[in-house]
Amino acid sequence: MRALQFSKYGGPEELKWDEAPDPHPGPGAVRIAVRAASVNAIDWKRLSGAMSGGQPLSGAGFLGYDAAGVVDEVGEGVTDVKVGDDVFGLGAGTQAEYAVLHAWAAKPSSIDWAVAAAAGVAGETSERVLRLLSIAAGGTVFVDGGAGGVGAVAVQMAVAGGLRVIASAGQANQDYLREIRATPVLYGEGLAGRVRAASGGRVDGVFDAVGKTPIEELMSLVSDPSQVVSIANFGAGSAGARVTGGSADSRGRAALAEVAGLLQQSQLVIKVQTFPFDRAAEAYRIVGGGHGRGKLVLVP
Ligand SMILES: NC(=O)c1ccc[n+]([C@@H]2O[C@H](COP(=O)([O-])OP(=O)(O)OC[C@H]3O[C@@H](n4cnc5c(N)ncnc54)[C@H](OP(=O)(O)O)[C@@H]3O)[C@@H](O)[C@H]2O)c1
Repeated sequence: MRALQFSKYGGPEELKWDEAPDPHPGPGAVRIAVRAASVNAIDWKRLSGAMSGGQPLSGAGFLGYDAAGVVDEVGEGVTDVKVGDDVFGLGAGTQAEYAVLHAWAAKPSSIDWAVAAAAGVAGETSERVLRLLSIAAGGTVFVDGGAGGVGAVAVQMAVAGGLRVIASAGQANQDYLREIRATPVLYGEGLAGRVRAASGGRVDGVFDAVGKTPIEELMSLVSDPSQVVSIANFGAGSAGARVTGGSADSRGRAALAEVAGLLQQSQLVIKVQTFPFDRAAEAYRIVGGGHGRGKLVLVP
């Protein structure tokens, strides 16, 4: 099969769409013939070497943490899907012709492959953080970075859960935030004051989806600092906020099933821009720029 890969850390120019060994699912996993795989900020970080701990790359590096496709191999103990089923979900090395998923949900038939692929990481992360914040319907959440891949899904899932949502973005994305039913504020200096003005006081929780606002400023918006949950500021924990990095708090398949339901009911709409796999570098350049709207998705 072919897979997106790189042989040394660097920028998008290092990416190659080339031959790679076929993956096979272990117990509790499935393999899919990939119809679409999204590009997440973590792919950019991995390609750049930011997650390597200063160690050189050994062997080829593969990318992609979510995808949608058709099940073509089923691992031992898997009983809820069969060969030929359409699914989307989470895995590793998903930017390839075939990929192994460790968590999945049935793809709603009304949803495009690209949208389903885009819903994996962003949907699971949003479900996880909103559950950790546990704000009752009618409460207010502030999503810092509400127009990004994760942020735009988080805003819509919060609205679907009955929350009032205030969200930040740059000038170019203020209308987009209104479109997804958030009250928009500009990020940058003075952010906390603008959020207070929009909410009429404190908020019940903060979803830090980008990690660029000083954590103390975000903590000033809530009465209990643990009601700030960050997915991108890994130093925030020492200040009293919470940081979540994935598997420990994940509901995996249950989270993806919830996301599938919201997609099917059009309560979650994900804007996607697609690129063929052999033009992945263009998508990576946009993700690396850090000012995207919605999600970028690779397709065969
Ligand atoms: N811990 C986890 O489980 C987990 C899971 C998924 C992602 N992540 C991390 O979460 C982060 C976001 O991922 P993503 O895929 O959503 O990235 P993304 O799509 O690249 O996010 C881009 C967004 O960030 C916004 N932004 C840029 N500067 C900002 C600032 N100073 N304040 C507020 N917003 C700002 C941009 O808004 P404008 O375009 O309007 O400027 C844009 O909408 C990444 O660091 C990623 O690695 C962590």
